This record gives sequence, C-alpha cells and structure tokens, in this order.
Amino acid sequence: MKDQSIYSGFPQDDERALDSMLRPRVFAEFVGRPNTVENLKTWIQGARLRGESLDHILFSGPPGLGKTTLAYIIANELEVSIKPTSGPALTRPRDLVGLLTNLRTGDILFIDEIHRLDVRVEEYLYTAMEDFFVSIIVDSGVHGRSIKIDLKRYTLIGATTREGLLSPPLRSRFQIMERLDFYTPEELKRILLKSAGVLGIEINDESAELIAGRSRGTPRIANRLLRRIRDVAQAGGSSTVTVQTAREGLRRVGVDKMGLSEMDRRILQVLARNSGRPVGLKTIAAVVGEQEDTIEDVYEPFLIRQGLLERTARGRAATAEGLQVVRNHLEGEEKGSAQGELF
Ligand SMILES: Nc1ncnc2c1ncn2[C@@H]1O[C@H](COP(=O)(O)OP(=O)(O)OP(=O)(O)O)[C@@H](O)[C@H]1O
Ligand SMILES: [Mg+2]
Repeated sequence: MKDQSIYSGFPQDDERALDSMLRPRVFAEFVGRPNTVENLKTWIQGARLRGESLDHILFSGPPGLGKTTLAYIIANELEVSIKPTSGPALTRPRDLVGLLTNLRTGDILFIDEIHRLDVRVEEYLYTAMEDFFVSIIVDSGVHGRSIKIDLKRYTLIGATTREGLLSPPLRSRFQIMERLDFYTPEELKRILLKSAGVLGIEINDESAELIAGRSRGTPRIANRLLRRIRDVAQAGGSSTVTVQTAREGLRRVGVDKMGLSEMDRRILQVLARNSGRPVGLKTIAAVVGEQEDTIEDVYEPFLIRQGLLERTARGRAATAEGLQVVRNHLEGEEKGSAQGELF
C-alpha cells in the first residue's frame, strides 16, 4: 500500500518523537533562512540588553518549515520557559487566562495554529498582548462585575499556516512577523546530512541530493523520506543509504521522478478525465477520498508551482503539462515499465 500522505507537511502521529529528536535546539543548528535567523538574533539581543521581554512574534508559512522549531530555539536562547498550546485547544477563555496568569516575566506562550482561535478567546488576547492585563467577569447577572488581572511581561509567539485567516486586530498586535518560505534543495541536503547523523546512518552527497530534490522544499518531508529510506537500507542489512536504496525507498512510497505522489497523480487523473475542463474542489475531494482542506493546503500548491494545475473561477483544471503527465504515467503502466521509467 503506497502512502498517500507522504507529502503532507503536517506531522503524522508516529512522527512527533522523531520530529523532536531531529529538531534543532539552537540557531547554530538551524539550517537556512539566514535573514529570519539574523533578525531574530538581533531582536533577542536588543531585548536582553534592555532587560525587557521580547516583542510578540508571529511565524507564518506552510507546515513543516520550522515555525515550532524557531519558537523553541528562541526560548532556549533567552533561557526562559515556553508554554505550548494551540488555537483549537483553547476552547474557553478561562483556559487562556489560566495560562497567561501563570507566566513569569520573559516567559513565552506559544500558540500554534493561532488562526483557529475561538473569537471569544481571541478577544482576551487583545489587552493581554497590548497592555498585559485581562478583565474577567466574576459573578453573573445583576451582581456581575469585572476585575482586572495584571500579567507579567511575557512574549506571545503565534504560528499559523494560514496568515490570511488571522483577524486584523490580532495580527496588528504582533510587533514582529516572520514569514517562512520553502527551502532550497541545497538547504534540504544539509538538513538530510545532519539528520542522517542523528539517525545513525551513512548517506552520500548524491543520495542526499536525490532525496532533497523530492522533498518539496519542506524539512519535515525530507526527514520523513529519509526515515523510510533508512528502513529500506536496514532491511537490506546495511546502514548506508546508496542512490539505489534511495531510489528504491522513493519508489516504495510512490514518489515518482517529478516528485509527484500517488495522491498528486490521482488528482491529475480526475482532472484529465474531464479533458482539462474545470472540476470543483468538492468533486475532486470525493473522488480521490481526501479532505478538501488537505487538497488545497498540501497538494495543490505544489501542482500549481509545477505548472500542472490551475485554479479557475469554475474549479480546478489540468494544464497541458498536467494532462501530459497523466498520459505518460498511463503509457508507463501499460508498458509495465512504470517502475523503471518513472522512479
Ligand atoms: N531550518 C531547519 N533546519 C533543520 N531542521 C529543520 C528546520 N526546519 C524544520 N526542521 C525539521 O523539520 C521538522 C518540522 O519542523 P517544525 O515542527 O518546526 O515545523 P512547523 O513549521 O512548526 O510545522 P507545523 O506547521 O506543522 O507546525 C523539525 O522537527 C525539524 O526536524
Ligand atoms: Mg509546528
């Protein structure tokens, strides 16, 4: 069974432990993003010199590019504690107030998926971020009154994969905004070489380049592919990843030469059946058996960047190149040479 989610940038259940094992702890271990790293170091140093807490930071960008990693690195460099939570986990205002009132000066509150905060909870953040207090209502009915609770000067770090969904009042309260973008194959190669070291396997430059080229600019995907390929090497009784093992591993997870996964090809096939005329997202989702959100956030961006798919007013359409990819694949399968040719 080919793994259809091999290219999901979101962490998979069994991957969290691996993520934390491979996660850089200090800036020196964080590969790439030189501008972001330089900026953050400067703001950290400034805050330290002034003896103040760091300004609130918002990290945005696609999944798996290092937002959580950076939040932890910042806490580490500042030698403060970090309290992690997420938008969907904070269902009631009192959950947030509880976290806020327990923060000490300089501590970091990390809210992942901050675009998914409930509005009632979000409203408490406005004063909490700007003026470091929250007003809570005690007693209800006619005796209801609000009391003001002062907070220590903490730092909020928010992370979001959907910056566009953040409300303007919330967004405007972040003094620092850093957008993370996809990594270059060269940067991914460096990450792979380092991860191989942590995982206790040998990998040569050529194999690392091969895997980097199929990782869609995403460190989490690069590490995921490496782990599957390590299994192939170890099953063959070796702790060395050769180009051959790398190819075999990629073939097993269904990734082809173009870096397309099984799910990408199925999406293109649905569009091809309609001869390139637009198909609605709902229909695509139903036919391929995947959620609309996932198709939009995970698969489409790559297909669009590769010039294989277009978003039109009436739905999604395969481009001429996209249709060609489907034809090539079908021909490959007919010849029975899919594996040799495509991978
Ligand atoms: N710059 C980097 N250098 C080395 N490894 C990295 C880098 N960025 C990310 N990684 C690796 O990728 C994994 C995923 O990164 P991280 O969890 O920080 O992503 P994220 O942007 O928070 O994703 P999500 O949106 O899913 O929360 C990390 O565990 C780490 O192993
Ligand atoms: Mg994260």
